[in-house]
Amino acid sequence: MKATARAHTNIALIKYWGKRNESLILPTNSNLSVTLDGFSTETTVHFQEDLKKDIFLLNEQNVEGNALEKVAVFLDKVRALSGKELYAQIQSVNHVPTAAGFASSASGLAALAAASAKAIGISLDDTELSKLARQGSGSACRSIYGGFVEWQMGEREDGADSFAVQVAGKSHWDIRIAAVVLSKTTKKVSSREGMRRTVETSPFYAGWLEQTPKDLQEIKQAIAEKDFEKMGSIAEANCLRMHATTLGANPPFTYWQDTTMRVMQTVQNLREKGIPVFFTIDAGPNVKVLYLSEDEDKVKKRLQSIEGVEDIIVSKPGSGISYL
Ligand code: PMV
Repeated sequence: MKATARAHTNIALIKYWGKRNESLILPTNSNLSVTLDGFSTETTVHFQEDLKKDIFLLNEQNVEGNALEKVAVFLDKVRALSGKELYAQIQSVNHVPTAAGFASSASGLAALAAASAKAIGISLDDTELSKLARQGSGSACRSIYGGFVEWQMGEREDGADSFAVQVAGKSHWDIRIAAVVLSKTTKKVSSREGMRRTVETSPFYAGWLEQTPKDLQEIKQAIAEKDFEKMGSIAEANCLRMHATTLGANPPFTYWQDTTMRVMQTVQNLREKGIPVFFTIDAGPNVKVLYLSEDEDKVKKRLQSIEGVEDIIVSKPGSGISYL
């Protein structure tokens, strides 16, 4: 009744931005990410007869409130699948550098899904596991796999055809993804709230829905051909389109800060000097920068010199779920 799983987080190159079903977490567009080897979560789930409720320890600290509630609601789904009415002790360790301010929901929910299913004794293939993780956090369904991963949105109302598939393994392409950590981050609009507000109120959202399937088709081709300029420019453009939808929302909002924009401009300047380097940004102010290994020194040095940048953490494409 006990199992441990490790999952890595991922960064979307084609964003998931908007839900068509909030409770099942079904997206309005298919999307694509790279799993990162630099950030992971390890989770042990232990179901026990004598527990009266779930207990959640994150980085050895007892967690209550909303975070515990989120975990308990997710475990209710696992209990329902197994038919067993048992509570668990959940111990999670995030290997995300402290204060990096990255959402750990993708790696966290993927590891929780894998460990809890195994611990309670239901055997799920990767597709079923991806569907389960999706119901904890959308982006988590992609962290079941390593390398380059597509979340196929599906069409069905019940979500049975909404899950991730691997597009290319982690050794397909040795690119680098630098997470640029900013020294000050403000309280952000959660991805859940940001998506909801944008879908409901932004007149730009229709344009997002029209363009994104085209971006996805093209980036898959670029990945297959290992065409870095093509892949990077599509990822950067898709990120800018996602962030543009938030400016059209009511009330309008943006995830960007002054340092976010300095990093974006630095990336564009490096490109003007002939270095193939591109950025992408999720629902927060931090920037991820994509480049090739031979340009590492130049890119890192330049990023480190930007005012307001605290740290640069470099990843390669990482692996999917593993059991410890
Ligand atoms: O799954 P969530 O709720 O963490 O939402 C992720 C949303 C974005 O990070 C902005 C885009 C993405 O595809 O990961």
